[in-house]
Amino acid sequence: MANAERPSDQAKLLREFGLGDDDLAAWDRSARHSHEFEDWLTDRVARRPAGARALEVYGADDVHDFARNAILEALQLGPADRLLEIGCGGGLLLRDAAPSGALATGLDHSEEMVRLARERAPGTEVRLGSAEDLPFPPASFTAVAMSVVFLFLPDPIAVLTDCRRVLEPGGRLACYTTAPELRGSPAAPEPLASRCHFYEDERLLALAREAGLEDVVVANDGGGQLLTARA
Ligand SMILES: C[S@@+](CC[C@H](N)C(=O)[O-])C[C@H]1O[C@@H](n2cnc3c(N)ncnc32)[C@H](O)[C@@H]1O
Repeated sequence: MANAERPSDQAKLLREFGLGDDDLAAWDRSARHSHEFEDWLTDRVARRPAGARALEVYGADDVHDFARNAILEALQLGPADRLLEIGCGGGLLLRDAAPSGALATGLDHSEEMVRLARERAPGTEVRLGSAEDLPFPPASFTAVAMSVVFLFLPDPIAVLTDCRRVLEPGGRLACYTTAPELRGSPAAPEPLASRCHFYEDERLLALAREAGLEDVVVANDGGGQLLTARA
C-alpha cells in the first residue's frame, strides 16, 4: 500500500482507525516527514500506543480478551507463580491474573500504557522497558505471557531466548499472536500489517526451539496462534 503522504489521506486513515483531531495534532507536533506517517500510525495505534483513543482501547474489558483468556487458560497460574507479561498494554491480563494469587509483573515500552496498566492492575509492578532487553535476573519468573505483541518484534529469537533466561527451569511461556492468514484482515489491517511479522505455525515452532525452549506447541484457532513452551 502506498504511503499516506498527503494531509487529506493522513486524516482519512486516522479516522479509519478511530483516531481524532488530538492524534492529528500529535502527528503535526512530531514534525516527522510525511513518508513516516504510516510508521507513526502503527506506533500510535498498536506498536507503542499513545493518546486518548489508545487509553480508551487498551483499557477496555474486551480488548484482546480472546488472547488474554487463552493465555491464562494455558498458564493455569497459582499462588506460587511469578508471572511476567511482556507488552502488557493496559494491564488487563495482569488484572485478571490477580485472583490466582500469582505475583505479577508487567513490562511495556509505552509510557502511557505503563501508567494505564498501573491503574488497571493496582498492586502489580509495571515497568517501563523493552522486550529486547528484559531488566530481570535469570530465573526471576515461573511464567511469561505475551498477548498480541510478538508480531511487532523484529528479532523474535532474541526475545524468546531472553524469555528462557528469565524463566526458571521448567517455567511456562504462553504467547498469543496472529497468523499470516489474517494479514490484511480487520485483525491485522494495513498499513500496520506491512510493519508486522507473521509466522506459519511450523515457523513459530522452529523459532521457539531455536531459542532453546522445550515442549513447544502451537495451537491455531482460525488464525489466532497460541504458542506454549517450557524453559
Ligand atoms: C497491541 S498492544 C497489546 C497490549 C496487550 N498485551 C493486549 O493484549 O491488549 C502491544 C503492546 O506491546 C507493547 N510493545 C510492543 N513492542 C514492544 C517491545 N519491543 N517492548 C515492550 N513493549 C512492546 C506496546 O507498547 C503495546 O502496549
